[in-house]
Amino acid sequence: METAVSSYSLATDLYCPACGKQYDADSIQTYATCCNQPLVTRYAISPLSKSMLNNRPLNMWRYHELLPVHQKQHIVSLGEGWTPVFPLPSLAARLGIKKILLKDESFNPTGSFKARGISAAISKAKELGITHCVMPTAGNAGGALSSYAAKAQINATVIMPRHTPETLKEECRLYGASLLLVDGLIDACGRKAKEICATTGAFDMSTLKEPYRLEGKKTLGYEIAEQLKWRLPDVIVYPTGGGTGLIGMWKAFKEMKELGWINGKLPRMIVVQSDHCAPMVQLFETGHLPAHFSPEPTIAYGLAVPHPFAKDMIQEIIRESSGTAIAISEEAITLATRELATEEGRLLSPEGSAAYAGLKKLIEKDYIREDETVLFFNTGSWYKYR
Ligand SMILES: Cc1ncc(COP(=O)(O)O)c(C=O)c1O
Ligand SMILES: [Zn+2]
Repeated sequence: METAVSSYSLATDLYCPACGKQYDADSIQTYATCCNQPLVTRYAISPLSKSMLNNRPLNMWRYHELLPVHQKQHIVSLGEGWTPVFPLPSLAARLGIKKILLKDESFNPTGSFKARGISAAISKAKELGITHCVMPTAGNAGGALSSYAAKAQINATVIMPRHTPETLKEECRLYGASLLLVDGLIDACGRKAKEICATTGAFDMSTLKEPYRLEGKKTLGYEIAEQLKWRLPDVIVYPTGGGTGLIGMWKAFKEMKELGWINGKLPRMIVVQSDHCAPMVQLFETGHLPAHFSPEPTIAYGLAVPHPFAKDMIQEIIRESSGTAIAISEEAITLATRELATEEGRLLSPEGSAAYAGLKKLIEKDYIREDETVLFFNTGSWYKYR
């Protein structure tokens, strides 16, 4: 069943993270139906010299050996990745922390980190001959899908909650996607996506029900390591909805250990959610979701994922990294946006603002100590939430 490893990609096959069952990477795959888990891409990894990265283009495809596309001509790229990491020294001094770093993903095409996952998924879809993709989304992933599908000349159907801000809807239409609006949160959109795929034969690109968005998001981890000269921060704060970036970064860290690119202790991984919809925080604190769990929309639209498909993997990463999960109020998110805008001149998406609010709360609780380096993400552009 093993794919022939190409010089361009070392990907060999896929596996179920729960039971290890192997899945073929040369045919279209969805998720590990054996255990109802996301599928994980495996690579033929052996120690490699970091110098292979010298003189490569500054986008996420500089790590192409560790990405799933075997033929270069299938890559659909709009220049995603290699986003800036900004030190925030005056904020760090005020909060009494050694170093605070902001990785600003709003610099990506379509203004969010979703471009990474979608570039990988659409490229692989092209390689596998897929012609129509369907995606439920809180907004940003839908915009990215519409854009990359247009570039690849693949049909895209995007399904969003009706209450999503207008800009996030309009960009999909401009890129030529079909946009459907549904009452409710992303779960309701997911049910609609399933229905459409069953009747049309289109491919379902729901978060982690498709294996390769994870691989694109993984480049966050490679980039942080390379940009910080192969010394990872002590703590990483991630605004979590479906958890793809968190799982991706952790996978990258493990792979880089095997490649011999990093060593030592890995960062504590922090899940930040909105207290309007915080299933991972509930699971972390109590071990189960209470019967009265009633998620509501949040201004951090991307965090409103009531039932993350990869909840087991997210929980495992929090545990293994000695991380934690924390919920933030809507007011704290709004205040965080203002604080970073007025003190640092940086306007963050509500999700990025939530990450910053989480970071502050963890400093107050002494979970983050004064001699530590912390990195948090702005995952999207404030300008799209109008
Ligand atoms: C701006 C933004 N931040 C964070 C998230 C959550 O991302 P993930 O699904 O990787 O947890 C999303 C998802 O929609 C988003 O759009
Ligand atoms: Zn399994």
